[in-house]
Amino acid sequence: MLIARRIRELGVYCELVPPTLSRTEARQLNPKGVIFSGGPASVHDADAPRAPDWAFDGDLPLLGICYGMQEIAYRLGGSVARSAEREFGPATLGRTCADPLFVGLPDPMDVWMSHADHVDELPDDFIATAATDGIAVAAMADTTNNRFGIQFHPEVVHTPQGAGLLANFVRDICGCRDDWTADNFISASISDIRRQVGDSRVLCALSGGVDSAVAAALTHHAVGDQLTCVFVDNGLMRLGEMEQVAATFRESMSVDLRTVDAGAQFLEELAGVTDPEIKRKRVGETFIAVFEEAAREIGKVDFLVQGTTYPDVVESAGVGHKSATIKSHHNVGGLPEHMRFKLVEPLKYLFKDEVRAAGRELGLPDTIIKRQTYPGPGLSIRITGEVTRDRVRVLQIADALVLEEVRNAGLYDELWQSFAILTDTRTVGVQGDARTYGHVLAIRAVTADDAMTADWARLPHDLLARISSRIVNEIPEINRVVYDITSKPPGTIEWE
Ligand code: XMP
Repeated sequence: MLIARRIRELGVYCELVPPTLSRTEARQLNPKGVIFSGGPASVHDADAPRAPDWAFDGDLPLLGICYGMQEIAYRLGGSVARSAEREFGPATLGRTCADPLFVGLPDPMDVWMSHADHVDELPDDFIATAATDGIAVAAMADTTNNRFGIQFHPEVVHTPQGAGLLANFVRDICGCRDDWTADNFISASISDIRRQVGDSRVLCALSGGVDSAVAAALTHHAVGDQLTCVFVDNGLMRLGEMEQVAATFRESMSVDLRTVDAGAQFLEELAGVTDPEIKRKRVGETFIAVFEEAAREIGKVDFLVQGTTYPDVVESAGVGHKSATIKSHHNVGGLPEHMRFKLVEPLKYLFKDEVRAAGRELGLPDTIIKRQTYPGPGLSIRITGEVTRDRVRVLQIADALVLEEVRNAGLYDELWQSFAILTDTRTVGVQGDARTYGHVLAIRAVTADDAMTADWARLPHDLLARISSRIVNEIPEINRVVYDITSKPPGTIEWE
């Protein structure tokens, strides 16, 4: 996924496909070049992923990265040596022969290695073009057939010139133009939506998140008042969230927006529930019931807009590894059979930063575009123990305070998420001369690149101190504040 992102950042469209992609499917995609990614397998493993035959048939430029390079070597008659130990970390790459992949790049050059096996005999027509202290074939090339392999990882930040190398491949070797821009994407997407939808009515569930907002804005540009948006207020949103999104869509874009105040219904369904999975399921089911009712009132609708993004598609299609269900995700894809609409998914091929760029281009305000990710089940999964009206209120105030301080410190845009969790743990404190027995509030702030992994943010101590002292002073129910210093994995971002 990271390789695809880096190439898109160069303005070149790149799609991730499984190694099982058929020849016919490949032909339909009409690729200008193919990259084989790295991976944890060894080419000698019986169940190792095999590069597809179609990639080797014609004269498509090929670039193998790490495992991908080993696979090219192995397939074309070279040999790959098994290593007992992994090489992991920085290395200095020195060039041994001219190679178009490295044009304009420094020699020597810092690269990042993460591999066990390595190529030790080159296939026919290949020459070794770079080496490190550890391995003699750190890069190989068959310039006649435009086939290349590199043992290091150009996609990670620890290979500072990695983008330059990928640019050499996609621009000079594959001949791609830099035409993947938000502007082009929007106009292509608008005509696709028009073609798909025709004169039919389209429904969109707004959630307050950036994905559904951009999907709705795009669809509105395409089909205007054929679109109706529904915003279900589940009573579990951040302070003022509903009003802010509603104002943007109603006033600045004059979208037909129906809001449904269903807070009481959600709280009723959550009464007495403390198990995280049951909370998620209850919120999901209640959402469907409320949404179904709202849709019925609108009348005949054929299409449903969803803010599915590329990482969702890649994960659910199992392009990489099939993942275990860590948490049930709540989204409108779970609608019951009799409500199946045809789906409009205009963001299906976009990464988060591309979604934001499209939103900006469509004129959505920063308050929506730069909004930190927020989970569908809302504050219910940031309250350990039972979710009650009072506890939601306490958390909304604490959450708003955390966000205000993070914004004032100028850190809001740098963080993937920053929020508070209301725990059901109580501790003893002292305030004034009195003993208190209040609840513990946890603060979580993470940096991430699409939430598959995340690191806890090293927030400045004075910011943490300010947040803590404001919370215990301004919110009587809370008398202790802790900071979560767990990365993902092993922790998840949300607590439940
Ligand atoms: P976790 O907690 O699994 O979260 O590390 C990864 C990212 O996903 C968000 N999240 C959700 N988003 N529905 C959503 O739309 C959900 O049920 C849901 N649960 C977690 C979370 O905020 C983080 O950004």
